[in-house]
Amino acid sequence: MSIRIAVLVSGGGTNLQALIGARDRGELGGGQLAAVISSKEGAYALERAKQAGIPCYVVARKNYDSNRAMTEALVAKLKDLNIDLVVLAGFMHILTEEMVKAYPNAILNVHPALIPAFCGAGYYGIHVHEKALAYGVKITGATVHFVNEEPDGGPIVLQRAVAVQPGDTPETLQRRVMEQAEWHILPQAVALFCQGRLCVQGRLVTIKEGE
Ligand code: GAR
Repeated sequence: MSIRIAVLVSGGGTNLQALIGARDRGELGGGQLAAVISSKEGAYALERAKQAGIPCYVVARKNYDSNRAMTEALVAKLKDLNIDLVVLAGFMHILTEEMVKAYPNAILNVHPALIPAFCGAGYYGIHVHEKALAYGVKITGATVHFVNEEPDGGPIVLQRAVAVQPGDTPETLQRRVMEQAEWHILPQAVALFCQGRLCVQGRLVTIKEGE
C-alpha cells in the first residue's frame, strides 16, 4: 500500500510544485499526493494542485477562533482522507499538540534556515531571510524536520547549506534558498519517509540504506 500524503499550504506553493515534479518523475518513493489543504482561500498553491489533478480543500484559519480549533478541524479532515504523512510546505500557522498526537513522527516541515538558527515563533517566510541578513550570516540554508510540540523543534531529517551573496535582499536570498535547498531536500525527505528509511530515536534521525 502506498503512503497517502497530504500537503498543507498557505501561499504560492513552490514547494508543493517541487513535490509534484518529483511525483511526475517517479521520485517520491512510491508516495501518493492524495490531498492539498490550504489555510487560505485563493492561495495559488490550490491552482497548482488542481492542475496536477490532486484533490484540494480549504480549512481557513479565519473560520476558527484559535489555532487549536483549526488544528482539530484539520486532523478530522486528514483522518477522513486516510492520510499517512502530513507535509507542511509553506504552511504559516503553528499547529497545536492535537496534530502531533494524531501523527507522531509523521509530519514533515520545510523551514528556510539551518535550524536551530532563525527558527521558532515569528520566524516564517520572508522574515527568516530578513533576520538572517540583519544578523550578517554568510551561510544559511534549509531544513526538513519532523514536527513535534515545539515550533521548528522536532528531529532534523535533512539540511542543505546555501551561501549568502554580497548585495542579497531578503527576496533574492529566499529564492536562492528555495532553488538550491528547499526544492531538493523536501521531495528527498518525503521519498525517504515513503520508502520507510527514516528511523527516529529521540532527537536523532538515521537514514537506512536503500535497496
Ligand atoms: C518557503 O520558503 C518555506 O520554507 C517557508 O515559506 C515559504 C513558502 O513558499 N515556510 C516557513 O517559513 C514555515 N515556517 P512556497 O509556498 O512557495 O512553498
